[in-house]
Amino acid sequence: MIFTEYPLAGDKLSNRVVMAPMTRSRTSQPGDVPNDIMATYYQQRATAGLIISEGTPISAVARGYSLTPGIYTQAHIEGWKKTTAAVHQQGGKIFAQLWHVGRRSHTEIAGEQPVAPSALKQPDKVYGPLAEGGFGMVETSAPREMTLDDINQTIRDFTQAAENAINAGFDGVELHGAHGYLLDQFMRTVSNQRTDQYGGNQENRIRFVIEITNAVIAAIGADKVAIRLSPLVGEGVDSDDSGKHDDIIDVTKLLLKQLAPLNLAYIHFSENIGDYTEATDEFRQHIREIYPNTIMVAGKLTQQSATELLEKGYADLVAFGTPYVTNPDLVQRFQRGVTLAEFDADARLTLYGGDEKGYTDYPPAS
Ligand SMILES: Cc1cc2nc3c(=O)[nH]c(=O)nc-3n(C[C@H](O)[C@H](O)[C@H](O)COP(=O)(O)O)c2cc1C
Repeated sequence: MIFTEYPLAGDKLSNRVVMAPMTRSRTSQPGDVPNDIMATYYQQRATAGLIISEGTPISAVARGYSLTPGIYTQAHIEGWKKTTAAVHQQGGKIFAQLWHVGRRSHTEIAGEQPVAPSALKQPDKVYGPLAEGGFGMVETSAPREMTLDDINQTIRDFTQAAENAINAGFDGVELHGAHGYLLDQFMRTVSNQRTDQYGGNQENRIRFVIEITNAVIAAIGADKVAIRLSPLVGEGVDSDDSGKHDDIIDVTKLLLKQLAPLNLAYIHFSENIGDYTEATDEFRQHIREIYPNTIMVAGKLTQQSATELLEKGYADLVAFGTPYVTNPDLVQRFQRGVTLAEFDADARLTLYGGDEKGYTDYPPAS
């Protein structure tokens, strides 16, 4: 089943295997511009049914990590065209992951004080410029609370970024609503203590996500819009369990009920990352009842566990992250039963920043 075609965004994917979004911080400077080695990297992986790009910031203030490729300048659009053309040349499909980090940033990276639903700082580190030169992990800055003007501007920024992505040749966009970034921050009480229509009860806390989704749909069409969510993961993905005991699962169910009639490309659940709760069969069945359309699942999947999810009807598409770091031809390896190249200590060292090493030099299986 994993190798069967699947309809998506008015076209069809050649199989159900998806390359999960992975930040690799290889852009050209100045301007965080997507470049030729990124095009090569994605082209090498284009036999996935679908690739989701690394998180791509929708504006300067949306940035939380240095060297990540934007989608808000003409240079970004031109740079991304190299990647989308390279993927399409191989018969692949690629969505852009639209990213706003909210409070998970630093003034030096965002270019101004980071913004968030509420002025609440979370102890956390992001990848940014070091005082002594070069890049490394730096403590986040305290954010300021977004005004209604900020909220409206951010909705426009998402819409513009989606239009830019389509102009750059992407087949669609995935809104990053997971991992404690801006959209997730609005949905959780641990990060959202607003007293206006964007805070308080659950309906209010999903309002921002719904408004962005509707605005992006109006701009590029529902079948090209997807969203990633991580209700089983704590808000501080890598750092602590803040938000884990929030009402985020109920909030997500409310959100899915409202998203179901919109006919989005897919809903993408990110699981098994950071501080997480295991997804039970009961959870998956309940989600299916609420959300009958396309569901994608990611998080420590193997060919076997992914196939089970497809066969049980819990997922329609299955996404792989780290296996794609070291196995550019993952689909062919699955098909031929070839042992996967391990995601080892060396692979971890070259995840973020640097050049071709550990990026485009993993060969396909012979
Ligand atoms: C190096 C690296 C960068 C990542 N960057 C992103 C990202 O930009 N956006 C995102 O939603 N998830 C990101 N993730 C999470 C992956 O998409 C995926 O959910 C996670 O790796 C679990 O799947 P896996 O066990 O198959 O690797 C990243 C993961 C890794 C390892």
